[in-house]
Amino acid sequence: MRTSGTSISVELEDRSYRVHVQPQGLAEVGRAVASVCRGRRCLLVSCRRVVRLWGEPVVRSLESAGVAVTTALVPDGEQAKSLQQAEKLYEALLRARFDRQAVVVSLGGGVVGDLAGFVAATYQRGVDFVQVPTTLLAQVDASVGGKTAVNHPRAKNMIGAFHQPRLVMIDPVTLSSLPKRQLRGGLAEVIKHGVILDARLFRYVEQHADALLAAEPEALKHVIRRSCQLKAEVVTADERESGLRAILNYGHTLGHAVESASAGRWLHGECVSLGMMGAAYLAEDLGMVTAAFAGRQRDVLRAAGLPVRLPGLAPEQLWERMSHDKKAAAGSLRWVLPTRIGEVRIVSDVSKETVLRALERIGE
Ligand code: GLY
Repeated sequence: MRTSGTSISVELEDRSYRVHVQPQGLAEVGRAVASVCRGRRCLLVSCRRVVRLWGEPVVRSLESAGVAVTTALVPDGEQAKSLQQAEKLYEALLRARFDRQAVVVSLGGGVVGDLAGFVAATYQRGVDFVQVPTTLLAQVDASVGGKTAVNHPRAKNMIGAFHQPRLVMIDPVTLSSLPKRQLRGGLAEVIKHGVILDARLFRYVEQHADALLAAEPEALKHVIRRSCQLKAEVVTADERESGLRAILNYGHTLGHAVESASAGRWLHGECVSLGMMGAAYLAEDLGMVTAAFAGRQRDVLRAAGLPVRLPGLAPEQLWERMSHDKKAAAGSLRWVLPTRIGEVRIVSDVSKETVLRALERIGE
């Protein structure tokens, strides 16, 4: 991983790419695409709301760099991550006679990025892909690292591929239109990066929570850049999640279960926040951290406006859901648990009773 000026480089041999974190970066998308992609035609995948807000500067920049644009819109929300929507995008590519030099550009949040990335990974066995994420969640997590997927009705993200983008262009200005609840959701992943890898980033959020919630550009730029650097380091070391990369799933084992139980009521980041609290209580119960750890994490999550308790939560049901998700994916329950702020370990074989005790503490 190398960082220079406003960009971070993800070093993966012939799949290396740069992540640009640049205010007004939307106007630079065209030049950046033209410099790293051979193709001069792109399919811009977005959704109605985002294209209305940010489509124009992106299209203008692509066209003035000599890249012709065909636009395809997908519905908002998680249900767009389906094989049916992927099929519609293949259809759009075929109808417009895109060949192997096609460039797929995703403009939007994690759903659009995951779906467009999956289509880029599979159309004609893989074409160039460019990420232009417009939510904090996608900017600090999903747009970097090459995980692409659609959901299967039985389990999330079950059909997918690793397909690294050719470039990621993050323009923090796009966050000015992001609903506050989604901004808070994105902060959950920033705090996650602090807990797993970087005590300084964690402290930064503790000290600048108000500025972050007020979407102050300098504060946002700082946490986006640091999160992308950390993620780039992890992905460079373990692109395909055969080891280290699993630490990025801190808070996600329980978080995914809460997310699917909530049937869309809770945002991903809110579920990760609850999941991180569950993991902290588990670690405390297992003697890996003192009670002060959970207290400090709880305070920073609260300061970021994230939920740390879920009254009425049904521990048994969540346990069933976690076990079911893992069985569906033929895996076993593995927990990413903290040992201190900035360091985690992966632990398997945590007993059901221990997990239920941690869940009860979130439900209290
Ligand atoms: N969001 C977890 C990962 O990219 O591995």
